[in-house]
Parts: sequence; structure tokens; C-alpha cells
Amino acid sequence: MDVNTAAKKPVMLSGIKPSGELTLGSYVGAIRNWAERADDYDCYYFMADLHAITVRQKPADLRRRTIEQLAQYIACGLDPEKNTLFIQSHVHEHAELGWVLNCYAMFGELSRMTQFKDKSAKNAENINGGLFTYPSLMAADILLYQPDYVPVGEDQKQHVELTRDIANRFNGVYGETFKIPQSFVPKIGARVMSLVDPTRKMSKSEDEDPGRIILMDKPEDIMRRFKRAVTDSEAEVRYDPEKKPGISNLMTIYAAATGRSFAEIEAEFAGHGYGDFKTKVGEAVVELLRPIREKTEEILKDKAYLESVYTDGARRAQYIARKTLDKVYRKVGFVRH
Ligand code: TRP
Repeated sequence: MDVNTAAKKPVMLSGIKPSGELTLGSYVGAIRNWAERADDYDCYYFMADLHAITVRQKPADLRRRTIEQLAQYIACGLDPEKNTLFIQSHVHEHAELGWVLNCYAMFGELSRMTQFKDKSAKNAENINGGLFTYPSLMAADILLYQPDYVPVGEDQKQHVELTRDIANRFNGVYGETFKIPQSFVPKIGARVMSLVDPTRKMSKSEDEDPGRIILMDKPEDIMRRFKRAVTDSEAEVRYDPEKKPGISNLMTIYAAATGRSFAEIEAEFAGHGYGDFKTKVGEAVVELLRPIREKTEEILKDKAYLESVYTDGARRAQYIARKTLDKVYRKVGFVRH
């Protein structure tokens, strides 16, 4: 059955930029949770390639990562029959609605976005217009599908808030057009931090984070990175994100990989040194990621299959996106043809 014509279920939508490799954080904090929802929600997940070029990308890398990300979505359990998986630039309505919403997003609001401030500080030589208007495009990504929920990491909540403000403003001027979406931040594993700087979120790009674990990492690389993970000068495995960010991050990861609670983990490692703990966490992550890496490698060999997935996904997404864009174009006063 076509997901678009299935009985009305709540709609869920999210995207990830193919600007770096997907990490353990992407899996535990996002994709794994997405996969569980396929039966209860009408789900849309996309590769945000339009967003990726707000920071310079090597074309060949961007292309490879976009396809690899799709293969990884599937390997992580997103069934393309049950979820609409697509590449953002294939559905041109995103760029079109993004433009319209730019005209309803205020300079002041966009200037206050934390991500814009951070990225402009990091890319001082390339503070382009796209980086600034990134949230209006993200608002378009979301509002086109009239979703109920938008699962995102903590760092993207502000953009979803702005999306709601833009939608309310538009609805206020033109009458009910957009459903007002809610962000949805998963509790456990929402923030997997860097292994070398546990006060910062694990980043997708190697330049930014030598303490990341990517989904395609080989077991020996994973073990090496965990053995070098930053901890603290005590010797007690105890959850205390303020005083012990490194150990608490390792506990979060171990909890996510094994399903154990923090209390169980504390009990398991009472009286053990950190070395032992790091090895156990590394091993748990190796086993967590092994089937994903193997499945991804297998899927990547079948280019025709991947092409059929993204072609079908774009068709399904566009069917919905088109309806919303038509409505918007009519409301703002464009002559329809
Ligand atoms: N901005 C998100 C990120 O950097 C990616 C993204 C783009 C997104 N469009 C979206 C997430 C729409 C949720 C909904 O992670």
C-alpha cells in the first residue's frame, strides 16, 4: 500500500545533512528511534543535501555520502516500504517554499540562531546567505509535510521553535495553512558526546571531532578510540554529567548499546578501573555497529536498488509537498497555471 494513502496516522519527519559521516550519535540519538516508529506514524526521512552546501563540500564526497547515508538509513532498520526516504534536492518544493518562508522569517530572528552564530565563527571566510537563511529552508522541509512531530537533537530545537513561529505568522496572515509541528527530543542518547571532548556533541566531521565513532568504523578503530577516551582523575564509574562528563558519556553509550540502566552499570563496574570499563564499552559498540556496517556495505553494492528507493521516495514525498506548496502559492497571491 502506498504510505500516502494509508489511514491517517500522525506524521513524523526528520532529516540529516550529508555533510559528514553518520556517527554512533546519529544512530543512537536519532535513526534507531526512527526505525521503531514506522508502524504507528507516517514517516518521512531525507538526506538534507541542500543544507549541506551552506558549508563548502567536495562534490564527489557529497554525492558519495548522500547515497551512503541512504544505505545506512536502510541498514539501521528504516524500511523503505514503510518510510518515505528521499533526497532533499529531488523534491524541488523544498527550495521553493524555502524562498517564500524567507519572506516571513525576520532578520532579527535568524541572527539569533545559535547554530548560525557558531557556524559563522567557525567559517569566518564563508558566512554566506545560505548559512543565514538555513532555518527558513528547514522550516520549509518541515512544513511541506504538515508533520505532527519532528524528532531532532537538542541543538536543532531552536530551529523547530522558529519553524513554529514562522508557521504561526503565516497562518495569522493567510488563515490556517500549516500545521504547527512539535519537536521531539529523545531522552536517552539524545546527546552522545565526543570521546575527546565530552563537553561537545559528537560531530559528523573528522576535522571537528577526532573523538567521533562513525558507523563504518572498523572494530579495531572503535576499540582504539574508546581506549583513548577522555575520562577524569577519579576511578569510579558513576553518572555525573557535570563533574564526570567523560565517564557519564561512556555510560550513556554503554546504556544505549546494552539497554542497561545507569544504576546497573555502576554496579557492574564497582571496584573496576576505567581501563576495563572502556574496553567493555568499546566491545559493546563494536557489536552494536557490526551488523549495520555489514548491511550498509551489502546495500551499497546494489546501485539499482538504491536508485529505486530514492526515486520512489521522491515521488511519494513530492505528492505531499506539491499540495502544500500549491496552497501556499494560492494564498500569497501567485497566479496559478
Ligand atoms: N538542521 C538539521 C541538522 O543539522 C538537519 C535538517 C534539515 C532537519 N532539515 C530538517 C532536521 C528538517 C529535521 C527537520 O541536523
